Amino acid sequence: MTLAIALPVSAAKREFDFAPADHQKIARIVYDTLGILLPEGKSQLVYGRVAPRVRACGLTSVSAYLAVIEQDEDERNRMLDALTTNHTSFFREAHHFEDFVERMWPTLSQRLASGGRVRLWSAACSSGEEPYTWLMAALGHDRSAAQRLLKGDLRMLATDVSPSVLETARAGRYSADTLRTVPAKLRATWVSDRLVVDPALREAISFRPLNLLGPWPMKGRFDAICCRNVMIYFDEPTKAKLQARLADHLETGGMLYIGHSERLSPEVAARFDCVGRTAYLKVRA
Ligand SMILES: C[S@@+](CC[C@H](N)C(=O)[O-])C[C@H]1O[C@@H](n2cnc3c(N)ncnc32)[C@H](O)[C@@H]1O
Repeated sequence: MTLAIALPVSAAKREFDFAPADHQKIARIVYDTLGILLPEGKSQLVYGRVAPRVRACGLTSVSAYLAVIEQDEDERNRMLDALTTNHTSFFREAHHFEDFVERMWPTLSQRLASGGRVRLWSAACSSGEEPYTWLMAALGHDRSAAQRLLKGDLRMLATDVSPSVLETARAGRYSADTLRTVPAKLRATWVSDRLVVDPALREAISFRPLNLLGPWPMKGRFDAICCRNVMIYFDEPTKAKLQARLADHLETGGMLYIGHSERLSPEVAARFDCVGRTAYLKVRA
């Protein structure tokens, strides 16, 4: 009689040795660097994302890979990049852009038209769908009116910690499937037949690498900030600290939009009025 060994199917199929201690080491590096929590229950996800890097380095175990990243910062960064979750889409949680267009844009577009400046920040922008959506929604489909505003002092900062998604964002080229959630009229105005976002729109956006946990080089305040679906990966102290920094970088009277399952910590919430679904107006410095 043969004895069946009760290994979890996923672990039995693994190409590389991956011990619980390996998971813990990776989770510690990711938490310390990016603030992202990777509890034990995510070990299959971690393995699935790290295994291609182990293979690319020609190694046979995750522990050998961990020894490599201790010495090799570039490889360590590639691992961190692989461990970020970059899910996004055009017009995701579109109620935020509708709110912005109704609440903020009439004043901001007037300010632009009379020579003033407007600053927007898409923090954790992933592959660019969020900042492009935001500008398309604001500028609408009157191209010549939009061109006049784009000639004004309008800048959108779009940041993410992952260099690979920023490359996609800068290229502004998407598949037909990715573009299917862009309303037809906006798509006709802002996306070419070759499925590339209009350079006029791309030029209004500065795509920059930025770790939300690290130092921020920006000096001025923003009129509105989208920081959506990234805080879900953080623990409460990290969220509260980040939210306080976001509030500090926002003009009083400016809007902060966060993801559908995210909430403001009580101290930060006291500086805002909640004016819509996960939409916050800064009312106190
Ligand atoms: C799920 S995506 C959200 C994208 C977009 N904001 C949206 O809601 O569709 C989360 C993004 O946060 C980025 N991210 C994770 N940790 C980060 C950190 N510490 N600093 C900056 N960006 C981070 C990831 O690289 C990823 O692109």
